[in-house]
Amino acid sequence: MAKPGAESRLHDIERQRQQVLANPLARGLAPTEVGIFLKQLPRERFPANVYSTRGPAPCIQPRGGFPVFDTQLELTRALDQAGADFIPLTIDSCTRHNQYDTASQLLKRSEEEGRSYLNGYPLVCHGHELTRELYRGLAKPVSLRHGTPDARLLAEIAIASGIAEIEGGGLCYCLPYSEGFPIDRCLLYWQYVDRICALYSTPDAAIHRESFGPLTATLVPPAIAVAIQIIEALLAAEQGVVSFAVSFGQTGSFVQDVATARVLRHLTRHYLDEFGFHSVRSFLVYHQWMGQFPTDRAQAAALIVGSAVISNVIGADKIVVKTVDEALGVPRVEVNSEAVATVRYALRTFACGERVSSPLIEEEAALIESEVRSILSAVVALPGDAFWESVYRAFQLGLLDVPFSPHSDNANRLTSVRDGNASIRIADPGKVPISEADAHTERRLLETRADRSDKTYRQMLADITLMA
Ligand code: 5AD
Repeated sequence: MAKPGAESRLHDIERQRQQVLANPLARGLAPTEVGIFLKQLPRERFPANVYSTRGPAPCIQPRGGFPVFDTQLELTRALDQAGADFIPLTIDSCTRHNQYDTASQLLKRSEEEGRSYLNGYPLVCHGHELTRELYRGLAKPVSLRHGTPDARLLAEIAIASGIAEIEGGGLCYCLPYSEGFPIDRCLLYWQYVDRICALYSTPDAAIHRESFGPLTATLVPPAIAVAIQIIEALLAAEQGVVSFAVSFGQTGSFVQDVATARVLRHLTRHYLDEFGFHSVRSFLVYHQWMGQFPTDRAQAAALIVGSAVISNVIGADKIVVKTVDEALGVPRVEVNSEAVATVRYALRTFACGERVSSPLIEEEAALIESEVRSILSAVVALPGDAFWESVYRAFQLGLLDVPFSPHSDNANRLTSVRDGNASIRIADPGKVPISEADAHTERRLLETRADRSDKTYRQMLADITLMA
Protein backbone atom coordinates (compact mmCIF):
# COMPACT_ATOMS: atom_id res chain seq x y z
CA MET A 1 0.00 0.00 0.00
CA ALA A 2 1.58 3.27 -1.09
CA LYS A 3 -0.26 6.40 -0.14
CA PRO A 4 0.86 9.71 -1.57
CA GLY A 5 2.98 11.61 0.93
CA ALA A 6 5.78 14.10 1.29
CA GLU A 7 8.19 11.24 2.24
CA SER A 8 8.40 10.50 -1.50
CA ARG A 9 9.96 13.90 -2.20
CA LEU A 10 13.19 13.75 -4.17
CA HIS A 11 15.62 15.07 -1.60
CA ASP A 12 18.71 14.69 -3.61
CA ILE A 13 18.35 15.73 -7.22
CA GLU A 14 21.61 17.66 -7.24
CA ARG A 15 23.61 14.99 -9.05
CA GLN A 16 20.92 14.38 -11.62
CA ARG A 17 20.50 18.11 -11.99
CA GLN A 18 24.19 18.61 -12.66
CA GLN A 19 24.00 15.99 -15.39
CA VAL A 20 20.95 17.63 -16.98
CA LEU A 21 22.52 21.09 -16.84
CA ALA A 22 25.87 19.80 -18.12
CA ASN A 23 24.28 19.61 -21.58
CA PRO A 24 25.94 22.34 -23.69
CA LEU A 25 22.43 23.42 -24.74
CA ALA A 26 21.82 24.55 -21.14
CA ARG A 27 24.38 27.29 -21.92
CA GLY A 28 25.70 27.58 -18.39
CA LEU A 29 22.23 27.99 -16.87
CA ALA A 30 22.75 28.56 -13.14
CA PRO A 31 19.82 27.94 -10.77
CA THR A 32 20.97 30.71 -8.41
CA GLU A 33 20.91 33.29 -11.20
CA VAL A 34 17.52 31.97 -12.34
CA GLY A 35 16.15 32.38 -8.80
CA ILE A 36 17.26 36.02 -8.78
CA PHE A 37 15.79 36.58 -12.25
CA LEU A 38 12.41 35.13 -11.19
CA LYS A 39 12.34 37.38 -8.11
CA GLN A 40 12.34 40.53 -10.17
CA LEU A 41 9.59 39.46 -12.58
CA PRO A 42 6.16 41.10 -12.17
CA ARG A 43 3.88 39.08 -9.86
CA GLU A 44 1.37 38.86 -12.76
CA ARG A 45 3.76 36.47 -14.49
CA PHE A 46 2.73 33.76 -12.00
CA PRO A 47 -0.55 31.89 -12.67
CA ALA A 48 -1.79 31.56 -9.07
CA ASN A 49 -1.73 35.37 -8.71
CA VAL A 50 -3.68 35.80 -11.95
CA TYR A 51 -6.23 33.12 -11.09
CA SER A 52 -6.89 34.65 -7.68
CA THR A 53 -7.67 38.08 -9.16
CA ARG A 54 -9.60 36.99 -12.26
CA GLY A 55 -13.15 38.30 -12.79
CA PRO A 56 -16.23 36.12 -13.29
CA ALA A 57 -15.07 34.76 -16.67
CA PRO A 58 -12.36 32.16 -17.17
CA CYS A 59 -8.88 33.31 -18.22
CA ILE A 60 -8.17 32.83 -21.93
CA GLN A 61 -5.22 30.80 -23.15
CA PRO A 62 -4.41 30.28 -26.83
CA ARG A 63 -1.69 27.93 -28.09
CA GLY A 64 1.11 28.90 -30.41
CA GLY A 65 4.63 28.18 -31.48
CA PHE A 66 6.78 29.02 -34.53
CA PRO A 67 10.39 28.00 -35.05
CA VAL A 68 11.92 31.39 -35.77
CA PHE A 69 12.40 33.82 -32.88
CA ASP A 70 11.08 36.91 -34.70
CA THR A 71 7.84 35.15 -35.70
CA GLN A 72 7.37 33.92 -32.13
CA LEU A 73 7.87 37.49 -30.90
CA GLU A 74 5.28 38.72 -33.38
CA LEU A 75 2.83 36.03 -32.19
CA THR A 76 3.49 36.82 -28.53
CA ARG A 77 2.76 40.51 -29.05
CA ALA A 78 -0.34 39.84 -31.18
CA LEU A 79 -1.86 37.43 -28.64
CA ASP A 80 -1.10 39.85 -25.81
CA GLN A 81 -2.81 42.66 -27.75
CA ALA A 82 -5.79 40.46 -28.63
CA GLY A 83 -6.44 40.04 -24.90
CA ALA A 84 -5.05 36.59 -24.10
CA ASP A 85 -4.65 36.22 -20.32
CA PHE A 86 -1.98 33.55 -20.68
CA ILE A 87 0.68 33.61 -23.41
CA PRO A 88 1.57 30.23 -24.92
CA LEU A 89 4.86 28.74 -25.93
CA THR A 90 4.13 25.57 -27.92
CA ILE A 91 7.18 23.39 -28.48
CA ASP A 92 7.98 21.52 -31.72
CA SER A 93 7.81 17.73 -31.99
CA CYS A 94 11.58 17.19 -32.39
CA THR A 95 12.31 18.97 -29.12
CA ARG A 96 9.48 17.01 -27.46
CA HIS A 97 11.36 13.84 -28.37
CA ASN A 98 14.73 15.20 -27.22
CA GLN A 99 15.95 15.31 -30.85
CA TYR A 100 17.81 18.57 -30.43
CA ASP A 101 20.20 18.10 -33.38
CA THR A 102 17.33 17.67 -35.83
CA ALA A 103 15.47 20.59 -34.26
CA SER A 104 18.58 22.70 -34.64
CA GLN A 105 19.02 21.82 -38.35
CA LEU A 106 15.35 22.50 -39.09
CA LEU A 107 15.49 25.77 -37.18
CA LYS A 108 18.43 26.87 -39.33
CA ARG A 109 16.56 25.93 -42.50
CA SER A 110 13.47 27.79 -41.30
CA GLU A 111 15.58 30.90 -40.65
CA GLU A 112 17.30 30.67 -44.02
CA GLU A 113 14.24 29.95 -46.14
CA GLY A 114 11.69 32.07 -44.28
CA ARG A 115 9.20 29.23 -43.80
CA SER A 116 8.47 26.87 -40.90
CA TYR A 117 10.09 23.45 -40.92
CA LEU A 118 9.12 22.84 -37.28
CA ASN A 119 5.63 22.76 -35.76
CA GLY A 120 6.60 24.81 -32.72
CA TYR A 121 9.32 26.81 -30.97
CA PRO A 122 12.51 24.80 -30.36
CA LEU A 123 13.12 26.23 -26.91
CA VAL A 124 16.16 24.10 -26.06
CA CYS A 125 17.93 25.24 -29.28
CA HIS A 126 17.09 28.91 -28.70
CA GLY A 127 18.11 28.79 -25.05
CA HIS A 128 16.97 30.80 -22.06
CA GLU A 129 18.86 34.02 -22.63
CA LEU A 130 17.30 34.72 -26.01
CA THR A 131 13.88 33.44 -24.92
CA ARG A 132 13.77 35.89 -22.00
CA GLU A 133 13.66 38.59 -24.67
CA LEU A 134 10.33 37.27 -25.96
CA TYR A 135 8.73 38.29 -22.68
CA ARG A 136 10.54 41.48 -21.72
CA GLY A 137 7.94 43.89 -20.31
CA LEU A 138 5.15 41.29 -20.33
CA ALA A 139 2.86 41.24 -17.28
CA LYS A 140 1.05 37.96 -17.96
CA PRO A 141 1.96 34.34 -17.32
CA VAL A 142 3.60 32.32 -20.07
CA SER A 143 2.57 28.69 -20.42
CA LEU A 144 4.80 25.91 -21.76
CA ARG A 145 2.70 23.61 -23.97
CA HIS A 146 4.41 20.49 -25.24
CA GLY A 147 3.97 16.70 -24.82
CA THR A 148 7.41 15.65 -23.66
CA PRO A 149 8.03 12.43 -21.70
CA ASP A 150 11.53 13.55 -20.62
CA ALA A 151 11.09 17.28 -20.08
CA ARG A 152 13.90 17.81 -17.58
CA LEU A 153 16.13 20.03 -19.71
CA LEU A 154 13.15 21.68 -21.42
CA ALA A 155 11.56 22.63 -18.09
CA GLU A 156 14.87 23.93 -16.71
CA ILE A 157 15.27 26.19 -19.75
CA ALA A 158 11.60 27.24 -19.68
CA ILE A 159 11.73 28.37 -16.06
CA ALA A 160 15.06 30.09 -16.68
CA SER A 161 13.32 31.96 -19.52
CA GLY A 162 10.66 33.26 -17.13
CA ILE A 163 7.96 30.74 -18.00
CA ALA A 164 6.04 30.06 -14.78
CA GLU A 165 3.54 27.48 -16.01
CA ILE A 166 4.66 24.02 -17.05
CA GLU A 167 2.06 21.75 -18.61
CA GLY A 168 2.36 17.97 -18.53
CA GLY A 169 2.91 15.01 -16.25
CA GLY A 170 4.27 11.49 -16.13
CA LEU A 171 1.02 9.96 -17.37
CA CYS A 172 -0.69 12.63 -19.47
CA TYR A 173 2.47 13.32 -21.49
CA CYS A 174 3.31 9.66 -21.95
CA LEU A 175 0.21 7.60 -22.70
CA PRO A 176 -1.33 9.80 -25.41
CA TYR A 177 1.97 10.69 -27.07
CA SER A 178 4.29 7.73 -26.95
CA GLU A 179 4.29 4.11 -27.99
CA GLY A 180 7.34 2.92 -26.17
CA PHE A 181 8.61 5.46 -23.66
CA PRO A 182 8.63 3.48 -20.39
CA ILE A 183 5.89 4.74 -18.08
CA ASP A 184 7.99 4.26 -14.93
CA ARG A 185 10.86 6.32 -16.38
CA CYS A 186 8.44 9.01 -17.45
CA LEU A 187 6.99 9.19 -13.93
CA LEU A 188 10.49 9.59 -12.49
CA TYR A 189 11.49 12.26 -15.00
CA TRP A 190 8.35 14.17 -14.13
CA GLN A 191 9.21 13.95 -10.43
CA TYR A 192 12.31 15.91 -11.38
CA VAL A 193 10.23 18.54 -13.22
CA ASP A 194 7.80 18.83 -10.31
CA ARG A 195 10.67 19.09 -7.86
CA ILE A 196 12.43 21.94 -9.67
CA CYS A 197 9.11 23.78 -9.97
CA ALA A 198 8.79 23.46 -6.20
CA LEU A 199 12.40 24.51 -5.56
CA TYR A 200 12.00 27.70 -7.60
CA SER A 201 8.62 28.58 -6.03
CA THR A 202 8.25 31.35 -3.46
CA PRO A 203 4.99 32.28 -1.68
CA ASP A 204 3.93 34.98 -4.14
CA ALA A 205 5.79 33.58 -7.15
CA ALA A 206 4.87 29.91 -7.47
CA ILE A 207 5.97 27.96 -10.52
CA HIS A 208 2.65 26.50 -11.52
CA ARG A 209 2.02 23.04 -12.93
CA GLU A 210 -0.90 22.03 -15.11
CA SER A 211 -1.90 18.54 -16.14
CA PHE A 212 -3.34 17.61 -19.52
CA GLY A 213 -6.74 16.02 -18.96
CA PRO A 214 -7.91 15.48 -22.55
CA LEU A 215 -5.39 12.60 -22.89
CA THR A 216 -6.06 11.02 -26.31
CA ALA A 217 -9.16 13.20 -26.71
CA THR A 218 -10.91 10.16 -28.12
CA LEU A 219 -13.87 8.76 -26.16
CA VAL A 220 -12.02 8.96 -22.83
CA PRO A 221 -14.63 8.36 -20.09
CA PRO A 222 -14.58 11.22 -17.55
CA ALA A 223 -13.80 8.84 -14.66
CA ILE A 224 -10.50 7.85 -16.30
CA ALA A 225 -9.55 11.47 -17.04
CA VAL A 226 -10.49 12.64 -13.55
CA ALA A 227 -8.62 9.78 -11.82
CA ILE A 228 -5.47 10.52 -13.82
CA GLN A 229 -5.73 14.26 -13.13
CA ILE A 230 -5.99 13.64 -9.40
CA ILE A 231 -3.06 11.20 -9.48
CA GLU A 232 -0.90 13.81 -11.21
CA ALA A 233 -1.94 16.51 -8.74
CA LEU A 234 -0.92 14.19 -5.90
CA LEU A 235 2.40 13.27 -7.54
CA ALA A 236 3.20 16.97 -7.99
CA ALA A 237 2.14 17.75 -4.42
CA GLU A 238 4.50 15.04 -3.17
CA GLN A 239 7.36 16.94 -4.77
CA GLY A 240 6.32 20.21 -3.13
CA VAL A 241 4.41 21.88 -5.99
CA VAL A 242 2.01 24.40 -4.41
CA SER A 243 0.00 25.60 -7.42
CA PHE A 244 -1.60 23.05 -9.74
CA ALA A 245 -4.34 23.01 -12.37
CA VAL A 246 -6.29 19.92 -13.31
CA SER A 247 -7.96 19.99 -16.70
CA PHE A 248 -10.29 18.11 -18.99
CA GLY A 249 -11.34 18.32 -22.62
CA GLN A 250 -14.83 19.13 -23.84
CA THR A 251 -16.59 15.76 -23.87
CA GLY A 252 -19.17 16.49 -26.57
CA SER A 253 -22.00 16.36 -24.04
CA PHE A 254 -23.20 19.39 -22.11
CA VAL A 255 -24.45 17.26 -19.23
CA GLN A 256 -21.17 15.39 -18.96
CA ASP A 257 -19.09 18.57 -19.14
CA VAL A 258 -20.97 20.16 -16.25
CA ALA A 259 -20.81 16.97 -14.20
CA THR A 260 -17.13 16.32 -14.95
CA ALA A 261 -16.11 19.83 -13.97
CA ARG A 262 -17.95 19.59 -10.69
CA VAL A 263 -16.47 16.21 -9.74
CA LEU A 264 -12.97 17.10 -10.92
CA ARG A 265 -12.84 20.28 -8.87
CA HIS A 266 -14.40 18.73 -5.79
CA LEU A 267 -12.41 15.48 -5.73
CA THR A 268 -9.07 17.14 -6.50
CA ARG A 269 -9.49 19.23 -3.36
CA HIS A 270 -10.77 16.24 -1.43
CA TYR A 271 -7.79 14.00 -2.22
CA LEU A 272 -5.18 16.76 -1.79
CA ASP A 273 -6.62 17.36 1.69
CA GLU A 274 -6.97 13.68 2.49
CA PHE A 275 -3.26 13.12 1.93
CA GLY A 276 -2.23 16.22 3.86
CA PHE A 277 -1.55 18.64 1.00
CA HIS A 278 -3.79 21.39 2.40
CA SER A 279 -1.57 24.21 1.21
CA VAL A 280 -1.61 23.18 -2.46
CA ARG A 281 -3.86 25.50 -4.45
CA SER A 282 -5.82 23.79 -7.23
CA PHE A 283 -7.45 25.26 -10.32
CA LEU A 284 -9.66 23.98 -13.11
CA VAL A 285 -8.86 24.30 -16.82
CA TYR A 286 -11.25 23.48 -19.68
CA HIS A 287 -10.02 22.56 -23.17
CA GLN A 288 -12.14 23.42 -26.15
CA TRP A 289 -12.92 20.37 -28.28
CA MET A 290 -9.69 18.40 -28.74
CA GLY A 291 -11.05 15.90 -31.27
CA GLN A 292 -11.37 16.23 -35.01
CA PHE A 293 -12.48 19.75 -35.90
CA PRO A 294 -14.84 20.76 -38.70
CA THR A 295 -13.00 21.99 -41.81
CA ASP A 296 -15.84 24.47 -42.37
CA ARG A 297 -14.71 27.69 -40.69
CA ALA A 298 -18.24 28.81 -39.77
CA GLN A 299 -18.84 25.49 -38.01
CA ALA A 300 -15.46 25.69 -36.33
CA ALA A 301 -16.33 29.19 -35.08
CA ALA A 302 -19.67 27.91 -33.75
CA LEU A 303 -17.88 25.12 -31.90
CA ILE A 304 -15.42 27.60 -30.41
CA VAL A 305 -18.22 29.87 -29.19
CA GLY A 306 -20.25 26.94 -27.84
CA SER A 307 -17.43 25.66 -25.71
CA ALA A 308 -16.61 29.16 -24.51
CA VAL A 309 -20.17 29.34 -23.16
CA ILE A 310 -19.70 25.97 -21.45
CA SER A 311 -16.50 27.20 -19.79
CA ASN A 312 -18.56 30.04 -18.28
CA VAL A 313 -21.25 27.64 -17.10
CA ILE A 314 -18.78 25.33 -15.37
CA GLY A 315 -16.88 28.24 -13.80
CA ALA A 316 -13.51 27.17 -15.22
CA ASP A 317 -10.46 29.15 -14.13
CA LYS A 318 -9.09 29.02 -17.66
CA ILE A 319 -10.17 27.98 -21.14
CA VAL A 320 -7.66 26.74 -23.71
CA VAL A 321 -8.72 28.02 -27.09
CA LYS A 322 -8.78 26.48 -30.58
CA THR A 323 -8.90 28.38 -33.87
CA VAL A 324 -11.07 28.18 -37.00
CA ASP A 325 -8.07 26.71 -38.83
CA GLU A 326 -7.65 23.82 -36.37
CA ALA A 327 -8.49 21.25 -39.06
CA LEU A 328 -5.86 22.71 -41.40
CA GLY A 329 -2.75 22.89 -39.23
CA VAL A 330 -0.74 25.47 -37.29
CA PRO A 331 -2.82 28.69 -37.36
CA ARG A 332 -1.49 32.00 -38.69
CA VAL A 333 -0.92 34.80 -36.19
CA GLU A 334 -4.08 36.71 -37.21
CA VAL A 335 -6.31 33.64 -37.07
CA ASN A 336 -5.00 32.78 -33.61
CA SER A 337 -5.56 36.34 -32.38
CA GLU A 338 -9.09 36.34 -33.82
CA ALA A 339 -9.88 33.19 -31.81
CA VAL A 340 -8.88 34.95 -28.60
CA ALA A 341 -11.09 37.94 -29.46
CA THR A 342 -14.02 35.67 -30.38
CA VAL A 343 -13.79 33.77 -27.10
CA ARG A 344 -13.51 37.04 -25.16
CA TYR A 345 -16.71 38.24 -26.85
CA ALA A 346 -18.54 34.96 -26.12
CA LEU A 347 -17.48 34.93 -22.47
CA ARG A 348 -18.69 38.51 -22.01
CA THR A 349 -21.94 38.01 -23.92
CA PHE A 350 -22.98 34.74 -22.29
CA ALA A 351 -22.01 35.25 -18.67
CA CYS A 352 -23.37 32.65 -16.28
CA GLY A 353 -23.83 33.84 -12.72
CA GLU A 354 -24.95 30.65 -11.04
CA ARG A 355 -24.42 26.96 -10.73
CA VAL A 356 -26.39 25.01 -13.32
CA SER A 357 -28.03 21.77 -12.32
CA SER A 358 -30.59 19.17 -13.36
CA PRO A 359 -31.47 15.59 -12.40
CA LEU A 360 -29.39 14.30 -15.34
CA ILE A 361 -26.36 16.33 -14.27
CA GLU A 362 -26.76 15.14 -10.68
CA GLU A 363 -26.95 11.51 -11.79
CA GLU A 364 -23.93 11.88 -14.06
CA ALA A 365 -21.86 13.58 -11.36
CA ALA A 366 -22.74 10.91 -8.78
CA LEU A 367 -21.75 8.18 -11.24
CA ILE A 368 -18.40 9.77 -12.17
CA GLU A 369 -17.58 10.45 -8.52
CA SER A 370 -18.35 6.89 -7.48
CA GLU A 371 -16.22 5.47 -10.33
CA VAL A 372 -13.27 7.75 -9.56
CA ARG A 373 -13.39 6.83 -5.88
CA SER A 374 -13.36 3.10 -6.75
CA ILE A 375 -10.44 3.52 -9.16
CA LEU A 376 -8.34 5.61 -6.78
CA SER A 377 -8.96 3.31 -3.79
CA ALA A 378 -7.78 0.38 -5.90
CA VAL A 379 -4.66 2.24 -7.10
CA VAL A 380 -3.65 3.36 -3.61
CA ALA A 381 -4.16 -0.20 -2.33
CA LEU A 382 -1.62 -1.65 -4.80
CA PRO A 383 1.74 -2.65 -3.36
CA GLY A 384 4.71 -0.33 -3.80
CA ASP A 385 7.24 1.62 -1.77
CA ALA A 386 6.00 4.89 -3.20
CA PHE A 387 2.78 6.12 -4.77
CA TRP A 388 4.31 6.34 -8.24
CA GLU A 389 5.06 2.60 -8.12
CA SER A 390 1.42 1.82 -7.41
CA VAL A 391 0.42 4.09 -10.29
CA TYR A 392 2.83 2.28 -12.60
CA ARG A 393 1.49 -1.08 -11.47
CA ALA A 394 -2.06 0.12 -12.11
CA PHE A 395 -1.18 0.45 -15.80
CA GLN A 396 0.51 -2.94 -15.89
CA LEU A 397 -2.66 -4.49 -14.46
CA GLY A 398 -5.04 -2.46 -16.61
CA LEU A 399 -6.68 -0.75 -13.59
CA LEU A 400 -5.92 2.48 -15.42
CA ASP A 401 -6.67 2.17 -19.11
CA VAL A 402 -6.71 5.05 -21.59
CA PRO A 403 -8.84 4.48 -24.71
CA PHE A 404 -6.94 4.84 -27.98
CA SER A 405 -3.57 5.26 -26.27
CA PRO A 406 -0.79 4.17 -28.66
CA HIS A 407 1.32 3.08 -25.68
CA SER A 408 2.36 -0.57 -25.68
CA ASP A 409 1.84 -0.85 -21.90
CA ASN A 410 -1.73 0.41 -22.03
CA ALA A 411 -4.23 -2.42 -21.53
CA ASN A 412 -6.72 -1.27 -24.20
CA ARG A 413 -9.39 -3.43 -22.59
CA LEU A 414 -11.83 -0.67 -21.70
CA THR A 415 -14.25 0.23 -24.48
CA SER A 416 -16.43 3.30 -24.62
CA VAL A 417 -19.26 4.61 -26.75
CA ARG A 418 -21.67 7.57 -26.65
CA ASP A 419 -25.21 7.42 -25.31
CA GLY A 420 -28.30 9.25 -26.56
CA ASN A 421 -27.08 12.45 -24.88
CA ALA A 422 -23.69 12.12 -26.57
CA SER A 423 -22.19 11.39 -23.13
CA ILE A 424 -19.25 8.98 -23.15
CA ARG A 425 -20.25 5.65 -21.61
CA ILE A 426 -18.09 2.74 -20.49
CA ALA A 427 -19.41 -0.17 -22.58
CA ASP A 428 -16.88 -2.60 -21.10
CA PRO A 429 -14.63 -1.54 -18.18
CA GLY A 430 -12.01 -4.21 -18.94
CA LYS A 431 -9.91 -4.38 -15.75
CA VAL A 432 -10.79 -0.87 -14.59
CA PRO A 433 -12.18 -1.42 -11.07
CA ILE A 434 -15.53 0.33 -11.12
CA SER A 435 -18.29 -1.28 -9.06
CA GLU A 436 -20.78 -3.72 -10.57
CA ALA A 437 -23.56 -1.20 -9.84
CA ASP A 438 -21.76 1.61 -11.72
CA ALA A 439 -20.97 -0.70 -14.65
CA HIS A 440 -24.67 -1.55 -14.76
CA THR A 441 -25.65 2.14 -14.72
CA GLU A 442 -23.26 2.79 -17.61
CA ARG A 443 -24.90 0.03 -19.65
CA ARG A 444 -28.40 1.21 -18.75
CA LEU A 445 -27.62 4.76 -19.88
CA LEU A 446 -26.30 3.35 -23.15
CA GLU A 447 -29.76 2.14 -23.94
CA THR A 448 -30.86 5.73 -24.51
CA ARG A 449 -29.02 5.53 -27.80
CA ALA A 450 -31.24 5.26 -30.89
CA ASP A 451 -28.88 3.64 -33.43
CA ARG A 452 -27.81 0.70 -31.27
CA SER A 453 -28.38 -1.80 -34.04
CA ASP A 454 -25.77 -0.07 -36.19
CA LYS A 455 -22.37 -1.74 -36.69
CA THR A 456 -20.12 -1.11 -33.69
CA TYR A 457 -17.22 0.27 -35.68
CA ARG A 458 -19.56 2.64 -37.51
CA GLN A 459 -21.00 3.84 -34.20
CA MET A 460 -17.51 4.36 -32.85
CA LEU A 461 -16.41 6.31 -35.91
CA ALA A 462 -19.50 8.52 -35.65
CA ASP A 463 -18.75 9.04 -31.94
CA ILE A 464 -15.14 10.02 -32.57
CA THR A 465 -15.95 12.42 -35.39
CA LEU A 466 -18.92 13.91 -33.53
CA MET A 467 -18.06 17.53 -34.25
CA ALA A 468 -16.47 17.25 -37.69
N1 5AD B 1 0.70 26.69 -32.87
C1 5AD B 1 -0.60 26.78 -32.49
N2 5AD B 1 -1.30 25.74 -32.04
C2 5AD B 1 -0.69 24.56 -31.98
N3 5AD B 1 -1.14 23.36 -31.57
C3 5AD B 1 -0.12 22.49 -31.70
N4 5AD B 1 0.97 23.09 -32.18
C4 5AD B 1 0.64 24.38 -32.36
C5 5AD B 1 1.35 25.52 -32.82
N5 5AD B 1 2.62 25.44 -33.18
C6 5AD B 1 -2.48 23.13 -31.05
C7 5AD B 1 -3.44 22.50 -32.03
C8 5AD B 1 -3.44 21.06 -31.60
C9 5AD B 1 -3.28 21.18 -30.13
C10 5AD B 1 -2.81 19.96 -29.41
O1 5AD B 1 -2.36 22.22 -29.97
O2 5AD B 1 -4.72 23.05 -31.78
O3 5AD B 1 -4.60 20.38 -31.94
